[in-house]
Amino acid sequence: MSAEIIDGKKISDDIKSELKAEIVRLKNQGVVPGLAAVLVGDNPASALYVKMKAKACEKIGIYSEVIKCENSTTHDEMVDLVSELNKREDIDGILVQSPLPDHIDEPAITVLIDPGKDVDGFHPLNQGLLLAGRPRFEPATPMGIVEILERSGHNPAGKNVVILGRGFLVGRPLSVMLSTKTRLTNATVTICHTGTPDISDYTKKADIIVAAMGKAMFLKGDMIKPGAVIIDVGTNQIDDPDHPKGKRLVGDVDFDSAKDIAGAITPVPGGVGPMTIAMLLKNTVKACKIRNGLI
Ligand code: GUN
Repeated sequence: MSAEIIDGKKISDDIKSELKAEIVRLKNQGVVPGLAAVLVGDNPASALYVKMKAKACEKIGIYSEVIKCENSTTHDEMVDLVSELNKREDIDGILVQSPLPDHIDEPAITVLIDPGKDVDGFHPLNQGLLLAGRPRFEPATPMGIVEILERSGHNPAGKNVVILGRGFLVGRPLSVMLSTKTRLTNATVTICHTGTPDISDYTKKADIIVAAMGKAMFLKGDMIKPGAVIIDVGTNQIDDPDHPKGKRLVGDVDFDSAKDIAGAITPVPGGVGPMTIAMLLKNTVKACKIRNGLI
């Protein structure tokens, strides 16, 4: 039997429609959410992500400003730029696209962003609030995973969840979110990583697997329990001579072998990716409401 394909694009479109309606209500009260995205250098993937984020903002009525900086921008110039954006009344959210060039101290820049405008949820204060069980801004990708599970009817409460990867952007915060006791989380969470001797031991017992370790097509059908829910966070370009461009995008899951065993699976593209952008928009609207005393 073939798995249900979870349509992240459709779910993210629903969320964006809900946000658009909320932004109309905010505008009727004289409030316009604003997001500033800072792009440093000429990394094509970063440029594409920032463009997609700005376009998504404009589509639902968020004021969006993209600040493009030369690769040669100094650390001190970045400090000045973030300080300016922190002061701007019309900017509710600040996003500094990662990775920054090596000569800029990225963690030092992250700490400088006003935590009230940290819509990426990367500031240590927001990370600490998440750990303390009082989340304010959570990172967009794990937030999108919790939401895609909810909206596709796969509530993780009481389930065995295995997360592959302990990264700062996805695995680590997601493990905290999914193990927290809420109506939509409350799962038993295991994180597998490079120190795990036999990952199959864990994945074969999992009701839900989140693959977020950045290894192309790592999770195969014979590593999963029949009927499991598979969330694929990977975005890997692989060579493919049969493809017109000579390469194609694949996830951390071997989709073709997994789809015949899994109960449900997110595709790449069209799964978690669109959810990440929708959650950034959601955090920006939330920041705007908090800053205007509306929540
Ligand atoms: N680079 C890769 N993912 C992200 C993200 O979610 N936010 C930012 N700022 N940079 C990224």
